Amino acid sequence: MHDTPAATGAPDVLVPWAGLDTRHGPWPEGIRVHVWDGGGDGPGLPQEALDRVGFWVLPYAVPGAEALLPRLPGLRAAQSLSAGVEKLLPLLPEGVSLHNGRGLHDASTAEHALGLILAAQRDLPRWVADQHAGRWEPHFTRSLADCRVAIVGHGSIGAALERRLLACEAEVVRVARRARPEEDVHPVAALPELLPGVDVVVLVLPENPGTVGLLGAAELAALPDGALVVNVGRGRTLDTEALLAETGNGRLRAALDVTDPEPLPAAHPLRSAPGVLITPHVAGGSDAFRPHAERLVVDQVRRYASGEPLANLFARG
Ligand SMILES: NC(=O)c1ccc[n+]([C@@H]2O[C@H](COP(=O)([O-])OP(=O)(O)OC[C@H]3O[C@@H](n4cnc5c(N)ncnc54)[C@H](OP(=O)(O)O)[C@@H]3O)[C@@H](O)[C@H]2O)c1
Repeated sequence: MHDTPAATGAPDVLVPWAGLDTRHGPWPEGIRVHVWDGGGDGPGLPQEALDRVGFWVLPYAVPGAEALLPRLPGLRAAQSLSAGVEKLLPLLPEGVSLHNGRGLHDASTAEHALGLILAAQRDLPRWVADQHAGRWEPHFTRSLADCRVAIVGHGSIGAALERRLLACEAEVVRVARRARPEEDVHPVAALPELLPGVDVVVLVLPENPGTVGLLGAAELAALPDGALVVNVGRGRTLDTEALLAETGNGRLRAALDVTDPEPLPAAHPLRSAPGVLITPHVAGGSDAFRPHAERLVVDQVRRYASGEPLANLFARG
């Protein structure tokens, strides 16, 4: 338990959506809830009201919204609706706790990862091109069934992806930072032995000092010919130059929702690399997100109002 908001003089809450109380029941007594969706030059509240904001739920995927942080002197907790908070972390004022959106994107991101894998295995980009070109030239394709898929970053999203892959009759190899033998999770240090035996490797990693460039030239070289590299975590965890070398000669294929850099410039060589399928960082953004996010926001506001610890603590400033 922490001090109740009223006791700290920061009883107000700022959330990104109006009508949450209509949909999920009245707000708790003793707090005032303001709404800012990230538009305009700020929430349009007088500084006196901003001074009282103790808990802020940042608008989702609104670049620059964090510029409000210095105007919230009473802030005690910030809630991001993203699972990856590496950009917000260095901006966190001292004494403010940061809570992430772990769990909110599981269904959406896992579904997108599965879609990328299926599209690549079943040659969907080829069939779309043929559709538009007026061609009818069927051939046999790879499949997902019977493939061995390594999920590197077997966390919340990785577990959701595993459930979907198993339904497609694939075999899953779990990899995380540290070994968890009781859950058959391999440590990331075992990748050199694991990679030669997989058909697909899926990165679902956060960006942190240990994950940048984690799949580089040596790891890609360890994959068998024709393997598929999928990234739905963060672009910088995969070495773009090394991937370009391995896809340029057709040895490996890739399906990427996240890239390094982002946005990917119009003339970037990844766009025209053979066997590379790209989506513009959209895995987490689907209709599956909002209901989960609203539930988390109202639960967090209730916890804040009652002085209970907030869920999904990522770091303390
Ligand atoms: N493309 C999109 O739209 C989209 C949407 C949502 C999320 N994401 C990305 O997906 C990431 C994962 O989300 P999540 O909710 O599944 O996170 P999570 O539950 O925290 O899982 C993260 C996984 O990464 C592993 N990991 C972390 N640091 C590592 C390191 N240095 N070396 C090796 N493994 C490491 C963890 O291993 P341990 O369990 O051993 O610590 C864990 O298995 C997010 O951080 C975000 O960047 C992308």
